[in-house]
Amino acid sequence: MAQLEQIAAPGSEWWRSAVIYQIYPRSFADASGDGIGDLPGITSRLDDLKDLGVDAIWLSPFMTSPQRDAGYDVADYRDVDPLFGTLADFDEMLAQAHNRGIRVIVDLVPNHSSDQHVWFQEALKAGPGSRERARYVFRDGRGENGELPPNNWESVFGGGMWERVTEADGTPGQWYLHIFDATQPDFDWTNEEVREEFRSILRFWLDRGVDGFRVDVAHGMVKEAGLPDYAPVADADSMGGREDNVPYWGQEEVHEIYRDWHRVLAEYDGDRALCGEAWLPTLAKTALWVRPDEMHQTFNFPYLMTPWDAKALGDIIRESLDEFGKVGAPSTWVLSNHDVVRHATRLALTAENPQGEGIGPLTPNKPDAAIGLARARAATALMLALPGSSYLYQGEELGLPEAMEIPDEFRQDPTWFRTNGKRYGRDGCRVPLPWEAEAPAFGFNHTGASWLPQPAEWATYARDVEAADPASTLSLYKQMLAARRAHGFGSGSLVWEDAGPDAVAFRRGDIHVVSNLGTEPIELGEGVTFELKSQPFEGTALPVDTTAWFRRS
Ligand code: GLC
Repeated sequence: MAQLEQIAAPGSEWWRSAVIYQIYPRSFADASGDGIGDLPGITSRLDDLKDLGVDAIWLSPFMTSPQRDAGYDVADYRDVDPLFGTLADFDEMLAQAHNRGIRVIVDLVPNHSSDQHVWFQEALKAGPGSRERARYVFRDGRGENGELPPNNWESVFGGGMWERVTEADGTPGQWYLHIFDATQPDFDWTNEEVREEFRSILRFWLDRGVDGFRVDVAHGMVKEAGLPDYAPVADADSMGGREDNVPYWGQEEVHEIYRDWHRVLAEYDGDRALCGEAWLPTLAKTALWVRPDEMHQTFNFPYLMTPWDAKALGDIIRESLDEFGKVGAPSTWVLSNHDVVRHATRLALTAENPQGEGIGPLTPNKPDAAIGLARARAATALMLALPGSSYLYQGEELGLPEAMEIPDEFRQDPTWFRTNGKRYGRDGCRVPLPWEAEAPAFGFNHTGASWLPQPAEWATYARDVEAADPASTLSLYKQMLAARRAHGFGSGSLVWEDAGPDAVAFRRGDIHVVSNLGTEPIELGEGVTFELKSQPFEGTALPVDTTAWFRRS
């Protein structure tokens, strides 16, 4: 009996219902004081995360990297970049998180490496046709002298997807493929040597004790054979194709890689998990990433991209539960991450300002901060009542808006450079966190240095200020996470209810959840006892841009 109790019942694995908090290490907490966050900084703030009430953390990349794409350009997959600390700092952080019952997921970047990776440097030296070049996607150019790129693909960050190299003898040579920046050459995943290398990298981190991996660009690793030309539709508002049949997204062969990795993780105890970053046009396609023998989770980006509209939101939740349910996987839910405009700003965007451009000093008609924050709190209160696993992005628990006034000279996102400033990119959601209103750099460190400037008004969002205010966004998050846990909202199912065309409404057990996405208050009726309100109000009329959890007598 005792033995049986130690074995998790099928379907009760932690990741099915967990709240997972994304840490963007550069911007979380900076123990060294150099202006860039680090692993000892994370360790020093784990009590705050315990206090918040999350089940796990996911760390964006902290491995050795020249930081051309903020660490998503890895030069050594088995070491920590000195900017962030050492492997010993990682082990300490992991042990301290585990001591507090917090699981740890690390980011794995298998689609591409940095151009400083030893394999790529060897490939440059070795020349056409070599074993070293076969680890990446090198091709001869088109045109009489190979002066044209091998096909017409365009980089996600702007510009072409190919870069021409100079061969060892000084002549213009082959081209290599890079879906992202030119400093991020794509691996060739048809090559068994690449596959074996990544099995070994997985084991390296699993042996250290990580609970899983967030898999970067999980939809891009295999390209259609023959690399046929493809003219994309204008697609600035997501990190992947809006269309089906894009020759570099969502290829069938990618699934065999995940089946292979699933088997590697299954060799370890403790329900280790893979979560795929797969930007795909439909939920039906996204669900293929989480069939029982593949990844355990995948981000629900169609949900993230849904505008603040009752019908659209209700439909996408229904569809998510339906499509993920078909393959026996939990849905995940996510509203913000390091690639999109923070949802406290995004949910107040208008049609003139599509989210993919980013928001900067010259953007006209900037979103209204108060409307954005009210919607963000309401949206999160709805999300945290849904069955499945939810991802939070650092700073959203403070209600942080997008930083919209970053001066050009501070910008670092390659998107900004590759589009010559046409797209602001993602720096606005990556600004270092405010911890203490009165401290240098708002307590991000002790020196006041900050790799991106923090807006002065962020003093009012500082964690110490919000911790002392029962009406703050931080207090709301703590209340929501505690109630979600107490009610077991992460598992089980929901019953849809009707609260009119401007509402999303459902019931979890005896708790009713209603969000008002319309323009008029919604009367909830007699006998209502509130458990939680996304913003304060009197009486039983649910204000616009508000969510409530309540019982009825
Ligand atoms: C993913 C990451 C993003 C990065 C890109 C290239 O989409 O989330 O930040 O720029 O991959 O690695």
